[in-house]
Amino acid sequence: MGHAEQDYFVRHLSLRQFQILKAVVDLGGHSAAARELKITQPSISIQLAKMQEILGAPLFETIGRRQHLTEVGRMASRAANAVLGSLQALEDELSDLEGSVKGELRVAVVTTAKYFIPYLLGAFVERHPAVVPRLAVVNRAQLLERIGANQDDLYIMGQVPDGLRVEAVPILDNDLVIVAPPDHALGREKRAIPLKRIVEERFLLREPGSGTRLAFDGLLGEHGLRLEPYMELGNSEAIKQGVMAGLGLSVLSLTNLRLELADHHLIVLNVEGLPMKRRWYAVTLKGKQLTGAARTFLEFLVHEARRTSTTPEKPQSRGMDSRKRKKK
Ligand code: PGA
Repeated sequence: MGHAEQDYFVRHLSLRQFQILKAVVDLGGHSAAARELKITQPSISIQLAKMQEILGAPLFETIGRRQHLTEVGRMASRAANAVLGSLQALEDELSDLEGSVKGELRVAVVTTAKYFIPYLLGAFVERHPAVVPRLAVVNRAQLLERIGANQDDLYIMGQVPDGLRVEAVPILDNDLVIVAPPDHALGREKRAIPLKRIVEERFLLREPGSGTRLAFDGLLGEHGLRLEPYMELGNSEAIKQGVMAGLGLSVLSLTNLRLELADHHLIVLNVEGLPMKRRWYAVTLKGKQLTGAARTFLEFLVHEARRTSTTPEKPQSRGMDSRKRKKK
């Protein structure tokens, strides 16, 4: 076979044909290959027929009811693996050049996210052991300051304010609910408790600057109500203890309450306008050159969010259970 012949292949065979041949061989048939490559079965047959024509011999033969590669088919399949394999290697090399998945990953999150983010970071670091995570847990106001100062690679927060120069992707649901100790009289209410009635209760609320506080104050404001907290605490764990101790009611993120609700240490009250449906967002600064680790983590978060279809249940409950076992 002379040079002219080889050039003939280069000019006539296409990468797409190699890709189709590889998919048909790897997946064992036209229909599976068509599904994988998101093309129709007739276009698979057309491309394979063209390939056969260029190679000058059949790629497959039917023995009994099954299709087998011919000798030429096997040679073409080896060539497909080599060509596509070296393209994949090139792609990997280039992405290494752009910055591999290693080094510091600086993530800052609002306090309510501290209940699920460690599990996501844990799963990520297991996959990419050369990544060194740095996690800052702060309230909304402090997080906005960090965003302004471009202090971290990636942020997790609730409602993203208008006018902030960031890209924000919703990742998980964040429902806010009103909690009470299990023996609270309002826990026996069958109908939704009016907000007007609930504000007569003693409340333990987060500090000003908290997104949870801002959202609840906003809801009350829409109903022309205001609430003077009985106590202000900057920490949802302390708030939970206070509610369990009967010091008052509070507003917390449902995902932060899994253990206490499961163990019946707290109950969620049926209150009009609640739960408040909010979401957590993965946020990066617009135009910021993300490190390989940050970009890959962002993709991982979005993928995990899709996989769990907007419910943090899986990463969270798994980790929570192990924490619970340890505590008891
Ligand atoms: P916070 O924020 O921790 O400041 O209450 C939570 C949120 O904004 O969802």
